[in-house]
Amino acid sequence: MQPSAPDVPHLADIPLGDPCVIVLFGASGDLTQRLLMPGLYNLACSDMLPEQFAVVGFALDEMDDVQFRDRMSDRIRKFHTRKEFDETTWSWLCNRLHYVSGKIEDPDAFHRLKEVATGLGEKHGTGGNLLFYFAVPPSIFGPITANLEKVGFKHGPGWRRIIIEKPFGHDLASAQKLNREVLSHWDESQIYRVDHYLGKDTIQNLLAFRFSNGIYEPLWNKNYIDHIQFNVSEVVDVESRGALYETTGVLRDMMQNHMFQMLAYLCMEPPGSFAPDQIRTEKAKVLQAVRILKPDEVPQYVVRGQYGPSHDAAGNVVKPGYRQSPGVSPVSRTETFAAYKMFIDNWRWEGVPIYLRSGKALWKRGTEIVVRFKKAPLTIFRGTAVDAMTANRIVFHIQPRQAIETSFNSKIPGPLMQLQTVQQRFDYADTFASARATGYEVMIYNCMCGDATLFSRTDLVEAAWRIAQPIMDYWAATPPTEFPNYTRGTWGPPEANELIERDGRRWLEVVTTEVLEKCELFKGADPMFLRAVIMALRPTVVSPGEMIIHKDDLAREMYLICHGEVEVLDDDGRVSETIREGGFFGEIGVLLSMLRTASVRAKTLCNLFVLDKRDLRRILRDQPQFADRIRQVANERYQVKLKNEQLIGTS
Ligand code: BG6
Repeated sequence: MQPSAPDVPHLADIPLGDPCVIVLFGASGDLTQRLLMPGLYNLACSDMLPEQFAVVGFALDEMDDVQFRDRMSDRIRKFHTRKEFDETTWSWLCNRLHYVSGKIEDPDAFHRLKEVATGLGEKHGTGGNLLFYFAVPPSIFGPITANLEKVGFKHGPGWRRIIIEKPFGHDLASAQKLNREVLSHWDESQIYRVDHYLGKDTIQNLLAFRFSNGIYEPLWNKNYIDHIQFNVSEVVDVESRGALYETTGVLRDMMQNHMFQMLAYLCMEPPGSFAPDQIRTEKAKVLQAVRILKPDEVPQYVVRGQYGPSHDAAGNVVKPGYRQSPGVSPVSRTETFAAYKMFIDNWRWEGVPIYLRSGKALWKRGTEIVVRFKKAPLTIFRGTAVDAMTANRIVFHIQPRQAIETSFNSKIPGPLMQLQTVQQRFDYADTFASARATGYEVMIYNCMCGDATLFSRTDLVEAAWRIAQPIMDYWAATPPTEFPNYTRGTWGPPEANELIERDGRRWLEVVTTEVLEKCELFKGADPMFLRAVIMALRPTVVSPGEMIIHKDDLAREMYLICHGEVEVLDDDGRVSETIREGGFFGEIGVLLSMLRTASVRAKTLCNLFVLDKRDLRRILRDQPQFADRIRQVANERYQVKLKNEQLIGTS
């Protein structure tokens, strides 16, 4: 008799990566210092690199092995991601680093490189295995490949694998050309096109979540799901990458690759198995089923934006806009923001809108996927106190918070039938103690093991460009007249809200602990307390001109502005202050029972989050350990002296 499969999984031992020499093109570049070396170091710390291992860097900078090691030793201390730096492990890796300087077009330099790589292979017993990492712009993939071939790198014992960095092409035609070029020298099975988002555990978990849990997959389709949102917000601007960013924009930089990869994982059909090509086939199939826009449909489905400078109250520029960044044209048309409503025209998803949104210089950093289910019918609650119900949703928090959250309605304790939306959440940090990773360790390790699951095949890359192409064409043909159309530090252009709101839906603005900490009341507070506050926030919409707070009313709540602007009015009804997106107001109202000292009016349509005093009191009653700190903060930052009963009430 066959033993039955165990119900409780056990953790398998992790095998070492295959012995090999990594030949790293672009060894003096930013990517190597910030991500690849820290990635290799993490692999070494996790004992996943074999003894038979070495790295040879190749770049233009004149350096010898010692100088290269010194440089990497300096940078790793800055960019490693572990709590403690392990000198012993680093020196093990550092002693395996070598360097050859030379020009990409110079066959002599490649001869030297071959000599060094072959010598290292023999010294370390790598069996001739060679992993080429192309951390260089795509324009030089061709010349590198040609020279590798010329000096005989392609032949010999062991395997040859190539990791290629994004961008893989600039548009559909260039991606096809590049694929032809690379595939004329190498076989598809040797090419590992990297997208570092797939190295993130929270992304890989999308597959685990969908295909290892019996309860979700039956619901994962147009019968039960109302719509899906993908949100990738970045606080960072283009920093020093202006010149490069001018040639990309957010559609090429984030959507066509990282976001479409996430989309593919979330929406693909179950593969026959986890065999790499089974997964890659399903991913490509789902992208091939995305509706391709006609040029005249683009403005209806896609919104573009570019950030302008931020100003202080006196109108002085605080931080520059995109057009003022180094390397950027003062009349640049490049988009730093995009929102896109798409459809996947297959049996599973037909008719389900999928909204994607991403941008730079936004108010908060956060990557989330929201799966919103259809609403239950309200009629059954007729005659009860329930007059509205929220729909269930699952939120995948990809980063910086790593969590999964499902929300459902629950009866509020008491004699009446009343509902409140509550959440179940899984936070990675509460369950797993793994060290922070760069995403690159998984990619390098998988390539060393010959597992191509996480890498993109030609068909997927081209399918992704095919979706983006009409949007790029339309934008190129119709220069934006409205740029810049969002102020840095806000939640993007208002048109992005209209895109979803005209369908009767709203972006789910996920408030993170970082967002709350921008308010003096919550700065430095315990994350557990902040999470309880986030759960208690109630969204509300206020029309332009509507009063939100009336002077002399009893204060009961505080507000966070999600979209829009409000005006604080003085005794004569004059505007004394304008508070913008991301701002808070009315904090004293949740601390003290007192009359409001000023009125606040919505200047524009506003989406707000409200924190009721009742809810804050409940949180502090349930978790009294946080009350002392709030009292101290109230005293120090708001000059409000509170007694315990004032803060938490009596019941
Ligand atoms: C890169 C983009 O691919 O991804 C950058 O070129 C972007 O513009 C970055 O900032 C975001 O990566 P992550 O892992 O920080 O979300």
